[in-house]
Amino acid sequence: MRRGVLVRLVAVGLAAAAVTSAVAFFVPWLPTPASKQADRIDFVFWFVTGISIAIFALVAAVILYSVVRFRARPDDDSDGAPIHGNTTLEIAWTAVPAVLVTAIAVVSAVALAQNEHLPKNHLQVNVSAEQFAWTFSYPKYKGLTVSQLRLPIGETVQMKMHSKDVIHSFWVPEFGQKQDLVPGIETKLVITPKRLGTYPIACTELCGEGHALMRSEAIVMKPAAFTAWVKAQEKAAASAAQGPAGGGAGLAAFNSNGCSACHTYKPAGSTATTGPDLDNLAADARRAGQPLVPFVRKSIVDPNAYIEKGYQPNIMPDTFKSLPKQQLDALVQFLTAGKK
Ligand code: CUA
Repeated sequence: MRRGVLVRLVAVGLAAAAVTSAVAFFVPWLPTPASKQADRIDFVFWFVTGISIAIFALVAAVILYSVVRFRARPDDDSDGAPIHGNTTLEIAWTAVPAVLVTAIAVVSAVALAQNEHLPKNHLQVNVSAEQFAWTFSYPKYKGLTVSQLRLPIGETVQMKMHSKDVIHSFWVPEFGQKQDLVPGIETKLVITPKRLGTYPIACTELCGEGHALMRSEAIVMKPAAFTAWVKAQEKAAASAAQGPAGGGAGLAAFNSNGCSACHTYKPAGSTATTGPDLDNLAADARRAGQPLVPFVRKSIVDPNAYIEKGYQPNIMPDTFKSLPKQQLDALVQFLTAGKK
């Protein structure tokens, strides 16, 4: 190949590489990783992107050069030169991609194995999904159950996931992984949080009318703050157990059934706004023209019977009609105690 040709090819290739590199690096395609697993996934992503940019630059250079250099001139009706293969080139364009694809496979397999590795010392969190709420419980802390995921930084956690109804999918973009929750089977996900902060949890599997509302938050805390939070939760549960408002059973039913994921209710300390504020149940019952206790009970087992102004039907799960009677009684008492 003549030297002038090579210089031009390299120049075009570098220009193409510069443009694609700029698009890759200056557009924020990925969120800042908040887990070690996300770091490894990002590494694989950039490894593959680097290779892709190099291949793209090579192909673009050859195409652009050929289009300009070998275009047909006006009135040129002659045939092209007869060319029969080029063994060196053919070996090169077979061997190089083979090496690159093997490298991608090895890097991916290593990242996947590391991401699934679960150290002996880890925290377990059970994740439960239902239309359209998340609940998280910590077996290590007497089954403490909440609607926001809280994790201590640096400690690997194994999430064991169950769905109560249809297929949902757990996704925290900053943690880098998604995991489906499928009725009837247990799925797992390993997360090692490495950055403090509050990150969105989204359901990323279309699961019904309220899919877009099936959101929560993952809060990564310092270990001391996490321990203090656990203690405070346990204390609140213990004092509620002695209190008049339906006792601990009511609060436990409220949390474990995911009520706190959608409703604000001061006695439970929940602040979600997907469904109506349960501190106003007495006023709601008056508007519905019904006595409070039957109104609340009916609204739990048959959510579409009365829809509060400003809210949509079919968003609240209708699965609570199968709640055990004891739990339902405790829940109704918890929601109506001290109100008229
Ligand atoms: Cu659950 Cu979408």
